[in-house]
This record gives sequence, C-alpha cells and structure tokens, in this order.
Amino acid sequence: MTHAIRIHQSGGPEVLQWDSIKVGSPGPGQVRLRQSACGLNFIDIYMRQGIYPVAQFPAVLGMEAAGVVEELGDGVNELAIGDRVAYPMVVGAYAEERLIDAERLVKIPPAIDDKTAASMMLKGLTAHYLLFRTYPVKSGDTILVYAASGGVGLMLCQWAKHLGANVIGCVGSPQKADLALANGCDHAVLYKQENVVERVRQLTGGEGVAVVYDGIGQQTFETSLDCLRPFGMMVTFGNITGQVEPFSPKILAPKGSLYVTRPTLATHVATRQLLLEGAERLFDVVSRGIVKNHVNQRYALKDTASAQRDMEARNTTGSTVLIP
Ligand SMILES: NC(=O)c1ccc[n+]([C@@H]2O[C@H](COP(=O)([O-])OP(=O)(O)OC[C@H]3O[C@@H](n4cnc5c(N)ncnc54)[C@H](OP(=O)(O)O)[C@@H]3O)[C@@H](O)[C@H]2O)c1
Repeated sequence: MTHAIRIHQSGGPEVLQWDSIKVGSPGPGQVRLRQSACGLNFIDIYMRQGIYPVAQFPAVLGMEAAGVVEELGDGVNELAIGDRVAYPMVVGAYAEERLIDAERLVKIPPAIDDKTAASMMLKGLTAHYLLFRTYPVKSGDTILVYAASGGVGLMLCQWAKHLGANVIGCVGSPQKADLALANGCDHAVLYKQENVVERVRQLTGGEGVAVVYDGIGQQTFETSLDCLRPFGMMVTFGNITGQVEPFSPKILAPKGSLYVTRPTLATHVATRQLLLEGAERLFDVVSRGIVKNHVNQRYALKDTASAQRDMEARNTTGSTVLIP
C-alpha cells in the first residue's frame, strides 16, 4: 500500500485527499517509479477546480515529478532499475509511487538533483517551446512576460535574457519585481497598479514588443494585444483569471496585423523526439547555470492543499516541490 493525493470531486483545496492506493505491477512498456519529489503547477489547480476535467474520479492529480525506477514492464529496454528519471505532463504525479509509460520519461543528468528536476520539467519545457518554437526569440527582441517571478516566468525570463532579448516582466509586488530583475528582466512593471500599455510604449520608444507571453488569461488579453508592435505575436498560454473570451479576428488588423496563438505543452511533448529535444536543451542550460530553477517553496506531499492555497493566493515565487 502506498499514498497519493486524490480528488473524488471537483472543488476547492479541501477536496485534495491523502489516500491509500494500490499501484500494482507495470504493464508492457511501463515502469513502476518510487517518486522522490513532485512539482506544483497552476494546471493542477485548473484540474482540481474542474476547468480541465479529469478522466474519472477518483483521480490522482499532479503533472510532473522525479523518481527512481523500481520495476520494469515487458519491452522496456532504454531504462534500468535504479535509474533516476523525471517527466512532465503525465497526470498522476502527486503520489509516493506510480506506474508510467517508459517513453514519457527522461533520465536526469548527474549534475541535476531530484528536487530541481521534479519541479522544472513542466515549467522549463514550457519556457523552451515558448522561446524556441512558438515565437523564436532573437537577440535584440523586446518581449513582455506576465507573472515574471512565477514558476514558468522566472525560467523563461532568464533564458530569454541569455538569447539576447530585452525582457519586460509584469509582476504583482515590489518583492517580486526584485526577484524578476535579478533573473533576466531588464524592467519590471507592477501590473496591478501601473498602466501596462503606457509603460511598455514608454520602454520601447512607442513601438511595442515583438511578443507577449501571457499566462494570466482573460483579464490581461486586450492589454496584451495593445502592447504589441506591428506583426507582433500574442501568446496566450494560461487561464489564471479565466479563459479568454471568444473574439473576432478582425480586431487584429487595425492593431498592426497581429498574430495570436494558444499553445499547450501537451503538443510540444507529444512525441518522444519532441520531448527529448526539449529536455536536452533544458538540461543543458540548467547544468551550465544559464537558467536556474529557483525552488523557493517546499511542502510535504500530504500538505498539497496548503501548497495550492499559497499558489492561488499569489504567495509563491519560482518553483515549488512536494516531498512524498
Ligand atoms: N500552455 C502551457 O503549455 C502551459 C504550461 C505551463 C504553464 N502554463 C500557464 O502558465 C501560467 C503560470 O503557471 P505557473 O505554474 O508557473 O504559475 P506561477 O506563475 O508560479 O503562479 C501564478 C502567478 O500568477 C500570477 N497571478 C496573476 N493573477 C492571479 C490570480 N488572480 N490568482 C493567482 N495568481 C495570479 C501571480 O503572480 P503575480 O503576483 O506576479 O501576478 C502568481 O504568483 C499559468 O497560467 C499556467 O496555466 C501554461
């Protein structure tokens, strides 16, 4: 018998339960993992709330973790018992042990510890695809990043700076501004109190930014469009304040022939090749100290409800780990 955080219905943090579960033996192509650390992501909150429905109840939540391979199913050749591995975007991560398809796992390089790996796979691979695939950031581009001191935000800003971008970060408090400025941001905008469009126009000599990375969603969508330069790219990639309302594409013409996209990491790790390509680049920049995964909060896995409450209350920065 082992334990996991499960929900039996959608709702607030109180529906997260520390349950005894049976894991069983791995089927063909699977392995059994003993997990050493799990990551916390905003998507876990959407799933708990029911914004992204779970396949069935009860459901183990959580989408990233690290651990050690304990048992191999038939046909698993690329992994051995004892390997340290990590994964993003496979639901069921809030658990002491789990079964998982071997092809969703990557081996963790020796230079990277389990807590760092567990809490950066989903966030770091998101930063990777946003910067290299959704809008390939070039040296000299000015970019706007929301929640710049958050999990995805801190990694994305450091990486963008390394690529030579001029990074403007939107943050919720002066303390978060200090953190963002120490991690890749050239400018911090306090978006709860400042006029974001005016500040961005002022910082870009009136031109606007090449791309906006907006995980905030409904509340900031129109502001974000107004921050773009002609031919700019609006990347709306999260729903913290609700889903963006339907809109007519014709609004994009007078604002400067803008582009809008709504990507998900699920597509960007859908094949083994895409997963490995992203992971290789992520491990490289983290191993070389170019991008640091700031693990700023730590909770016992059974206290996941407290961790989610803190994230929803905007009290977290960087990454959070949950320890089984
Ligand atoms: N599409 C994808 O592939 C993908 C993948 C990963 C993450 N995401 C999205 O990226 C965003 C960031 O995710 P994360 O896990 O790294 O979270 P996070 O940024 O660590 O935490 C959320 C932050 O959002 C900001 N925020 C603004 N309004 C908020 C509100 N009403 N309630 C709570 N927080 C608010 C807060 O920062 P401030 O105080 O600075 O505003 C808060 O700290 C989320 O929208 C997530 O869904 C999308």
